[in-house]
Amino acid sequence: MDLFEYQAKELFAEYGVPVPQGKVASTPEEARVIAEEFAAAGKPRVVVKAQVKTGGRGKAGGVKVADGPDDATAKAEQILGMDIKGHTVHRVLVEEASDIAEEYYFSFLLDRANRTFLSICSAEGGMEIEEVAVSNPDAVAKVSIDAIQGAPAEIAAAIVAQGKLPEAAAKGATELVTKLWDVFVAKDATLVEVNPLILTKDGNVVALDGKVTLDENAEFRQDLDALSFAAEGDPLEVKAKEKGLNYVKLDGEVGIIGNGAGLVMSTLDVVAYAGEEHGGVKPANFLDIGGGASAEVMANGLEIILGDPAVKSVFVNVFGGITSCDAVANGIVQALELLEAGDSDVSKPLVVRLDGNNAELGRKILNDRNHPAVRQVATMDGAAAQAAELAAK
Ligand SMILES: Nc1ncnc2c1ncn2[C@@H]1O[C@H](COP(=O)(O)OP(=O)(O)O)[C@@H](O)[C@H]1O
Ligand SMILES: [Mg+2]
Repeated sequence: MDLFEYQAKELFAEYGVPVPQGKVASTPEEARVIAEEFAAAGKPRVVVKAQVKTGGRGKAGGVKVADGPDDATAKAEQILGMDIKGHTVHRVLVEEASDIAEEYYFSFLLDRANRTFLSICSAEGGMEIEEVAVSNPDAVAKVSIDAIQGAPAEIAAAIVAQGKLPEAAAKGATELVTKLWDVFVAKDATLVEVNPLILTKDGNVVALDGKVTLDENAEFRQDLDALSFAAEGDPLEVKAKEKGLNYVKLDGEVGIIGNGAGLVMSTLDVVAYAGEEHGGVKPANFLDIGGGASAEVMANGLEIILGDPAVKSVFVNVFGGITSCDAVANGIVQALELLEAGDSDVSKPLVVRLDGNNAELGRKILNDRNHPAVRQVATMDGAAAQAAELAAK
């Protein structure tokens, strides 16, 4: 799970890593109030920064310096609502502007290939770090970190030296690196990245940006809910998460429900392929209802998918295993009843393919029910073609 920059900086501050002072605003007026506080404290120059979980905000125009409250309000107005690589900006961080002398790069990450941790450090940080890594790899030091030893002062100092950070920044950067390792360990992070790490004109080393990824497998000992802004995401994904469903919104027109992640993945492929014949219709989502496939789970899944205005048809692709097809068919019938009783619109066509354990009985149950929205197709390819064709109408 990725954190927003402001959340990363809150964690940094908690562990003594120097960060600029700042607060989050979700309207231009809130940004003004924050900028007024800074102005009253003798810091009229602020930076307004888009809070989205993607890099390259600076290059996309999502990071702007403002001179005083009026300017900060105007800059917040420009940035809020902006789309950065598909992420809508709902909030901005308004922070004190730093006087930057130099920009460096530093990160700790999980090095899966080598089954260890890695630190990356460079004196040539800032917005061009990716280009530096390609054009001048020697300027980017990669030092592996022993999990037990971690990054105490002498190791941190060696990393900073290998990154060729200048003498003026060495002490501050070394302290900062040891504290970032504390964050990395305490929070079960897989990435802690600071780009840029800066030396200010008055000689301080400060984390000016922060990117933190936490390991969701550590949820049992970390309070991830406090950090996950579920409400930030797609509203259908938020609802699906509340209902415990494995749902990912995609940008097509054919709603997909299947049992088992592998089957759902291949269903997406088959539908995308079939869609090429029908004006390029695509899958609208990934939804794995898992092994159980009870009526309730089916109803929840159908409710989410039918609630997506982009969906024009639905493909229910089930391979009966431990949960047999007759149980799934009963689930579909009951789900439709539940939805109709709850005033949901169930008129979008549902293409159902049942195969595997007790498929014949399952098909009979659906035939006997004879719901006007449901049609059955025996094969996965045939069902995908029909769902794509219906979506294209
Ligand atoms: N508080 C700040 N004061 C001065 N300059 C800043 C501040 N925050 C960011 N910048 C400048 O904006 C650039 C981009 O900001 P950053 O937070 O790194 O966003 P991103 O990495 O998404 O582009 C930085 O490299 C730095 O030059
Ligand atoms: Mg950055």
